Amino acid sequence: MKRVLVAAAVLAAGVSAVAAQQEVAVQQQNLMKSQGKNMYGVVLKMVKGETPFDKAAADAALKALADDVAKIPSAFTTNPKEDVKDATYGASQKIWQNKADFDSKVPPVTKAIGDAKFTDAASLKVAFDAIQAKCTGCHDDYRVKLK
Ligand code: HEC
Repeated sequence: MKRVLVAAAVLAAGVSAVAAQQEVAVQQQNLMKSQGKNMYGVVLKMVKGETPFDKAAADAALKALADDVAKIPSAFTTNPKEDVKDATYGASQKIWQNKADFDSKVPPVTKAIGDAKFTDAASLKVAFDAIQAKCTGCHDDYRVKLK
């Protein structure tokens, strides 16, 4: 009986460890999705003229983006060792072999956001492209396309 209980406890611990790992992966992805919402859902739409240029809305989106970007190093402290179920993108295991290099990709994004100066859709495009290039600087090395 005791052995059965121990086995059940070990199994339960295993199940919750797996759930916790999935939760870490989901949190990491949610941070990126939130960045995507500001970058593509707000700023890119103005750049493309799909929504009218709105300086205050663009400023707010870039402020929210900068806040999210600052959270990347701590959000990726734990290696979930698994991808979010059914996700299009995953985190490369290289992140946790080169965490310092991964973290070093963050300040250039923050700088590009801080440097953004724009008064219309055309100048917002210049800022968008500069920021996007720095996002790509990390994605090229550490983001994996799963499907
Ligand atoms: C330091 C590295 C790093 C930087 C900088 C970075 N990302 Fe990511 N990003 C990742 C990793 C790793 C993933 C894959 C993890 C995941 O989606 O679970 C990812 C995934 C994404 C995804 C896909 C999310 C999904 O739906 O699966 C979006 C969108 C995204 N990033 C947007 C951005 C934007 C916009 C910026 C720049 C403002 C940015 N990222 C900067 C590392 C980074």
